Amino acid sequence: MTVEKKTPAELRSARWFAPDDLRAFGHRSRAMQMGYAPEDWVGRPVIAILNTWSDAQPCHMHFKTRVEDVKRGILQAGGFPMELPALSLSESFLKPTTMLYRNLLAMDAEELLRGHPVDGVVLMGGCDKTTPALLLGAISAGLPAIYLPAGPMLRGNWKGKVLGSGSDAWKYWDERRAGKISDSDWVDVEAGIARSYGTCMTMGTAATMMAMAETLGMTLPAASSIPAADANHIRMASETGRRIVDMVWEDLTPKKILTHDAFLNAITVAMAVGCSTNAIIHLIALARRAGQDIGLDDFERASRKVPVIANIRPSGDKYLMEDFFYAGGLPALMAQIRDHLHRDALTVTGKTLGQNIEGAETYNDDVIRPVKNPIYAEGALAVLRGNLAPDGCVIKPSACAPKFLKHSGPALVFDDYPSMKAAIDRDDLDVTEDTVLILRNAGPQGGPGMPEWGMLPIPAKLVKQGVRDMVRLSDARMSGTSYGACILHVSPESYIGGPLALVRTGDMVSLDVDRRTINMNVSDEELARRRADWKKPEPRYERGYGWMFTRHIMQANDGCDFDFLETAFGAPVGEPSIY
Ligand code: FES
Repeated sequence: MTVEKKTPAELRSARWFAPDDLRAFGHRSRAMQMGYAPEDWVGRPVIAILNTWSDAQPCHMHFKTRVEDVKRGILQAGGFPMELPALSLSESFLKPTTMLYRNLLAMDAEELLRGHPVDGVVLMGGCDKTTPALLLGAISAGLPAIYLPAGPMLRGNWKGKVLGSGSDAWKYWDERRAGKISDSDWVDVEAGIARSYGTCMTMGTAATMMAMAETLGMTLPAASSIPAADANHIRMASETGRRIVDMVWEDLTPKKILTHDAFLNAITVAMAVGCSTNAIIHLIALARRAGQDIGLDDFERASRKVPVIANIRPSGDKYLMEDFFYAGGLPALMAQIRDHLHRDALTVTGKTLGQNIEGAETYNDDVIRPVKNPIYAEGALAVLRGNLAPDGCVIKPSACAPKFLKHSGPALVFDDYPSMKAAIDRDDLDVTEDTVLILRNAGPQGGPGMPEWGMLPIPAKLVKQGVRDMVRLSDARMSGTSYGACILHVSPESYIGGPLALVRTGDMVSLDVDRRTINMNVSDEELARRRADWKKPEPRYERGYGWMFTRHIMQANDGCDFDFLETAFGAPVGEPSIY
């Protein structure tokens, strides 16, 4: 297929650099102030590099130097690199939760691209929210864009045991609470669980969303599985730089890549990798920005037909992302489920997804299982509905004890996280393994920002009895590295008066994952009485970004975008005027 190429005069950046007028004189003279000559920019695409490096972002520590490899590639291909720092959204350090700021980075990315003299962009992200945020911004900006995933860190290690991000933090924390780990061993676990730069190396939100970026067609083939510390990652970075220059000449924009089929592919792969529950929220937001009608039902349909075949923790019980890479990585997994994929979807390579995965081999079929030998027979996530969650909620059945997939038990309700934290370890807490722990006021508005509180701690008295899983229900999210019978994203959330606000301690709660139901056994008349007594809480913020957030954030089943950022909200924003 011959691709029509842009001419240099058609480059967007030429609006800044080419005219013979006073403003363009200013742009050229300030470029020269930085030591550049016209040879650096005339006739060359200017490539923005949105870099989410910061001193508070351990997962992107290598971006400080990796960006030089991207620049090398851009220069080799005849482009002009322009690095633009963007919010780094460190999952570990940023409080109250990075989800409060995903849309702020999305706005940051969109406006950085719109306002600067750039023709295309390399998006450098990886730590949880950075992937969806950068892609959201790039979709709305509309310029040719390619995603550079930070890549997972190396496996953790402690006394010869492999440690997985998050998953082993929860696991060993419970052992410590049970009095089985000493102070000095605990410090050694701290030192061993994150021993290189890169993202969490379980199939958490970071690994999931990097895999989603690749499946959507927004990264080079195989890019998302490469460990951050592997030399292949450096070569992938410079190749990404080379490729974006050609994408500009080809005018290969996200709009041409992010079709409805591309999102169905992403949902299919999400199920097969044992994705983070957060994938649902982010993919819905991304799809809506790209103008595609994707919702919870699309996840539900995929969940019924695509099994989990990536044996990666927390759905799997043994392997980590480094093993996944050695086993063939995402192209090998996609090849296993090729019949479920729309293989003619276009990607940043200019080729189809089917062409990109042609010849991909699996080198370890215990890590990447064949479809006939899955680690879980259905997809990773299930969407439940009922009188507790009329607009849906989510469970990850592949990562919870099978006995809880059908369960009834009395509710133990906590109105907020502090009251739960204060009570959960009390010896006199009235709780058994059958109790359904409920946390409310932890959703998009109530959290605020929908923190990852959904994996509520098992009460200490039960931990001491050896209990390690029980049913937990909330309008919060949970980390993709978490596990257990946690029902999340209850919509509408309790803070705005969803039915979760009405449940009381002692009510019987029933879930049936096979039938996709979640209900409290309370009559409609009684619920109406409780609703009449319910009082709307005060808004969380009275000024600043949080004030804007609470007025415009949408619910989890709608992707938690700001209403005014959705593509359908109003007319497209034009190019900036240059006067
Ligand atoms: Fe950055 Fe997990 S903390 S990816």
